[in-house]
Amino acid sequence: MNTLFLDAAFSKQTERPPVWMMRQAGRFMPQYWEIKNKYSFLEMCKTPEIAADVTMLPVDLLGIDAAILFSDILVTGEAMGGDLSFTQGVGPKFANPVRTLADVEALEVDVLDRLQYVADAIKVIQQRLNGSIPLIGFAGAPFTVMSYLVEGGSSKDFKTTKLLMHNQPEVAHLLLSKIAKVTANYLNLQIAAGVNAIQIFDSWALALSWNDYQEFSHRYIQEIIAGLDRKDIPVISFCKGSSVFAPIMAEAKPDVISVDWNADLLNIKNSLPAGIAVQGNLDPHILYADKPVIKKHILQLFERMRGEKGFIFNLGHGIMPDIPFDNVKYAIEVVKEFKY
Ligand code: CP3
Repeated sequence: MNTLFLDAAFSKQTERPPVWMMRQAGRFMPQYWEIKNKYSFLEMCKTPEIAADVTMLPVDLLGIDAAILFSDILVTGEAMGGDLSFTQGVGPKFANPVRTLADVEALEVDVLDRLQYVADAIKVIQQRLNGSIPLIGFAGAPFTVMSYLVEGGSSKDFKTTKLLMHNQPEVAHLLLSKIAKVTANYLNLQIAAGVNAIQIFDSWALALSWNDYQEFSHRYIQEIIAGLDRKDIPVISFCKGSSVFAPIMAEAKPDVISVDWNADLLNIKNSLPAGIAVQGNLDPHILYADKPVIKKHILQLFERMRGEKGFIFNLGHGIMPDIPFDNVKYAIEVVKEFKY
């Protein structure tokens, strides 16, 4: 197996930084559309052979150092009772938003059988990977998943979610603790099915104040990580807002913190306890630019991180759907040519 990714995640020396990219299997790929035009997004997630086909696209076409399971962070919310749909151009929707104590009480927690399709997909993917590179499993963090359940979809300001947190904190906490229980069980299901690493996505933590982040997000991530059957499986904690929250994130004891693009990556790494690796943190917009610009920004980051153990190259957030495929491929070539 190519162990670059796992070695860097455990802060061991590697000959170059390993590379994978958030949303590496997605709409920027013409081959993704060939599949997407035949099935709905949830059908793709729920049919193990199709989820495996999509997971393998960046493995075969881009040569990344780690694969990530094709699924979505919102499948936990669906399993708990959320009426989830994805519509092109609209994004995710929960038709039955969760806003009252009764709504929260109605959500189910004992739902692993409804997520069995993910375990099945992991087994098919591992057969296809055949030990070549590690497979990353993932889940959404409770705050980010809560925001979709409460808002009923994507939001710019999280107004309804924050009102619930501030006016009825006990209802928000009941909801978060239910999501956290499902998420820990769900990640342990993925570990039992054979993933080699775990990433927790708290995409919208950036919206929270310092105190609210600790009370409504960090606490639950800490609970989830503490409940994982980790064995030799590294845990990556990602949020937008990590430039600010990294010291709190570190208290949950992940192996890796995935950093947004606002911060200087070396400064963040130096501020963390020894043994926590960093992942990141190219601004994904760089991948729209001309190739010499892409190369310059990647090499700049690598010069800054030269000599550091525990660095995984990634973007500060996911690849946008209209980034040219050729630019993504080029960026990965630049990384793979680099030698420390
Ligand atoms: O990274 C990967 O390639 C693995 C697959 C993956 C998807 N979603 C596939 C997907 C992962 C890890 C996610 C996580 C996810 N989903 C997050 C956290 C990561 C992040 O980017 O912040 C979030 C917030 C979601 C929720 C979600 N799912 C949104 C907001 C959307 C719509 C996006 C949009 O711009 O319309 C999705 C749908 C989704 N998830 C797609 C894919 C490939 C697009 C579905 C389609 O083809 O219609």
